[in-house]
Amino acid sequence: MRFIVTAGPTREPIDPVRYLSNRSSGKMGYAIAEAALAEGHSVILISGPVSLIPPSGANLVQVTTSDEMDDAVHAHLAACDVLVMCAAVADYKPATFSTRKIKKQKNALTLELIPTRDILASLTRPSPEFLVVGFAAETDDLEANAQKKLRDKKCDIVVANDVSGNESGMESDENEVTIFFRNGEKEKISRAPKKIIARALVKILSNACEKRLTKKT
Ligand code: C5P
Repeated sequence: MRFIVTAGPTREPIDPVRYLSNRSSGKMGYAIAEAALAEGHSVILISGPVSLIPPSGANLVQVTTSDEMDDAVHAHLAACDVLVMCAAVADYKPATFSTRKIKKQKNALTLELIPTRDILASLTRPSPEFLVVGFAAETDDLEANAQKKLRDKKCDIVVANDVSGNESGMESDENEVTIFFRNGEKEKISRAPKKIIARALVKILSNACEKRLTKKT
């Protein structure tokens, strides 16, 4: 199977030396890419700026901003069977980019932010069998928010993790996820190293993808 995995944060530039970003380390996405390769799948890994070594065998596409990530996903979509949107894409970006470094001033500074393009929500599937997997990092109402994301972003699967504590989620080497399917089913993977979670997740995703592809023939 042909996977596209997005990973890491995006950076939204404010001026030549500043940007808006988030705490995503990219570890979960890189672990998914590695696990998919180990299962014999091909992987295009679209990565924001992270300090990780990409798994060998992955076709690495490095991006910085959410717009670049959107372009890269669209450029590779048609050649794949499953998109795993693990990246923590910024939801907002500065309305304008200052070509000069913004000078410090005594008064408060207001930065106007505008929504970024939502890659998942604006996606056109290259085929009906194509599997779309979103991630939800939530600090509260995990299930309700994941169900909403399934509907609003037209995902087949949403992988939700609770990022309210320090032990799981962003930056950590461990995670604990619940996988929500469109038919209402859900499956929990208990707390484990991200590499172990990734292996279980890839099995679940390739089974779901396989079912769709065989239905077609
Ligand atoms: O809305 P929220 O950012 O919580 O949604 C998370 C999911 O949506 C993730 O799968 C993320 O990769 C994706 N996303 C996106 N485009 C954005 C923001 C998030 O595809 N601009």
